[in-house]
Amino acid sequence: MHPGPYNPPPGAYPPPGPYGRNVPRYGHPGAGSRRGGCSCLKVYCCCCCCLFITLVLIIGGIVLAYFIIKPHTPKFSIDKFEVKSFNISDDFSLKSHLEITAKADNPNKYIEITYGEGKEPKDNSVQVLYSNVTLCSGTIPNIFQPKKNVTMIKIDLKGDLKKEDWAAGSGESLASKLKNNDKIPLLVAIKAPVKVKLGSWWVGKDEPLVVSINATMNVKNLAEGKNPEISDKNYSIGLLFGKTYTKLS
Ligand SMILES: *[C@@H]1O[C@H](CO)[C@@H](O)[C@H](O)[C@H]1NC(C)=O
Ligand SMILES: *[C@@H]1O[C@H](CO)[C@@H](O)[C@H](O)[C@H]1NC(C)=O
Ligand SMILES: *[C@@H]1O[C@H](CO)[C@@H](O)[C@H](O)[C@H]1NC(C)=O
Ligand SMILES: *[C@@H]1O[C@H](CO)[C@@H](O)[C@H](O)[C@H]1NC(C)=O
Ligand SMILES: *[C@@H]1O[C@H](CO)[C@@H](O)[C@H](O)[C@H]1NC(C)=O
Repeated sequence: MHPGPYNPPPGAYPPPGPYGRNVPRYGHPGAGSRRGGCSCLKVYCCCCCCLFITLVLIIGGIVLAYFIIKPHTPKFSIDKFEVKSFNISDDFSLKSHLEITAKADNPNKYIEITYGEGKEPKDNSVQVLYSNVTLCSGTIPNIFQPKKNVTMIKIDLKGDLKKEDWAAGSGESLASKLKNNDKIPLLVAIKAPVKVKLGSWWVGKDEPLVVSINATMNVKNLAEGKNPEISDKNYSIGLLFGKTYTKLS
């Protein structure tokens, strides 16, 4: 062994270990490789940290956006029944023409809504049923509703029922209720394709959401030239997106 840069005399440096000459310069090779692992660990930790902070920022952003946008479900109600014709004859054939006014309330400050513009005709329907028999039907007109807006949607419904279209006894019971001017329990079943616009971003542009509204009510004075009274309204609202169905209320 010659004393030299790689082989210092004993005393100047700690005695060389079993790993020899590299000791003074680079330290313990094991320690060196461990330090390499440490810096790897640091990078890994750094990545984790960054990822975590990014995730926190994204979640925070979403929460903040949610509270700024404050999305509210639009409200619907059936406000008016107008009877253009509603004649039930002695053999229980019924020609009807009703105009329903539905009130759509969009309370959102940042969300705009389009109703009635759907891909499939089955997603746009309005039916008036009495004891499971459809009296008349129609569709939702195509309506664009701006933010913070209340729109009255007029829906034209027509029906032509024959004697054989009634389920057991329902024609007779409707005729007798009409005659006595009793309350008539009706179900208005609405299916409407809906597109939602947030800024310039459309939700359901190609695949509209379908809102399903079932409104049960009692209607009195259901006759031409009279002013029908609606009472005991109950609504059930659901949302169809693709094949999934969510009940909202
Ligand atoms: C319905 O009845 C009213 C009066 O009873 C009559 O004037 C009208 O022509 C009838 N409508 C139909 C479609 O039969
Ligand atoms: C309507 O049909 C459903 C299922 O088909 C049945 O459960 C319900 O009792 C019916 N309602 C009336 C009033 O007939
Ligand atoms: C709601 O929007 C409709 C359609 O754009 C418009 O005709 C109506 O005036 C608006 N109503 C209110 C209360 O802003
Ligand atoms: C409406 O719903 C309430 C509670 O869900 C029920 O008590 C009431 O009888 C319903 N009214 C009608 C007309 O179905
Ligand atoms: C409304 O009624 C129809 C048929 O009875 C049913 O398929 C649909 O799920 C109902 N929608 C809601 C929101 O209750």
